[in-house]
Amino acid sequence: MGKDVIIACDFSSAKETFDFLDKFTGRKPFVKIGMELFYAEGPEIVRQIKARGHKIFLDLKLHDIPNTVMKAMAVLSRLDVDMTNLHASGTIRMMEGALKGLTRPDGTRPLLIAVTQLTSTDQESMENDLLIKEPIDEVVMHYAANAEKAGLDGVVCSPLEAGKVHDRCGKNFLTVTPGVRFADGDVGDQKRVMTPAEAKKIGSDYIVVGRPITAAADPVAAYERCCDEFIG
Ligand code: C5P
Repeated sequence: MGKDVIIACDFSSAKETFDFLDKFTGRKPFVKIGMELFYAEGPEIVRQIKARGHKIFLDLKLHDIPNTVMKAMAVLSRLDVDMTNLHASGTIRMMEGALKGLTRPDGTRPLLIAVTQLTSTDQESMENDLLIKEPIDEVVMHYAANAEKAGLDGVVCSPLEAGKVHDRCGKNFLTVTPGVRFADGDVGDQKRVMTPAEAKKIGSDYIVVGRPITAAADPVAAYERCCDEFIG
């Protein structure tokens, strides 16, 4: 399982996305398609980006009853994405259903990654809104362990948590980490950040990088810099 840099294509239209991807004439980056672009353009955007030779992380964060998630995952699997995700809070049964749905008749399937607690959830909102009273770090690790138990491939987490997730769930359990910034770059609205080089040192398997690449004056150079720092 190779380390890779995934570009978060947080655009609202196919045009903007292709104007951006057209700049990459050499190496084809692994791209993340989120809810905004998927809901704007539908499954066709996935087929088009795939046809251009990119790997795709479809970031739709499914969460529903196990049967519904199983059937939805079967549809995503036919779209031939390389990685997709769901909420671990949907329970182990839901995650098992997702894996079943995602597995193609020939036994292959995209990587399946769990979101533990969203980074927008803090201790206070977890206790008051969700009535979960445990420390948030423990909740994150417990959800990661559930994902591993269900047979998933890894979790989305902060690069600061990647080491702990590997300690708890094993070295082969993947950590996909957003919140990456260049040492000399803008932090923006991300609170806990790491450079690509630091994320590599701490053992992240994939870094998800959006604005440091998409908003750069030279996105291709920024992407290459990320790859140099993270993959080497
Ligand atoms: O632009 P930036 O590098 O902050 O983009 C990070 C990407 O990772 C965005 O698509 C964001 O939604 C996603 N993400 C995140 N933090 C999480 C989960 C996902 O920043 N905890």
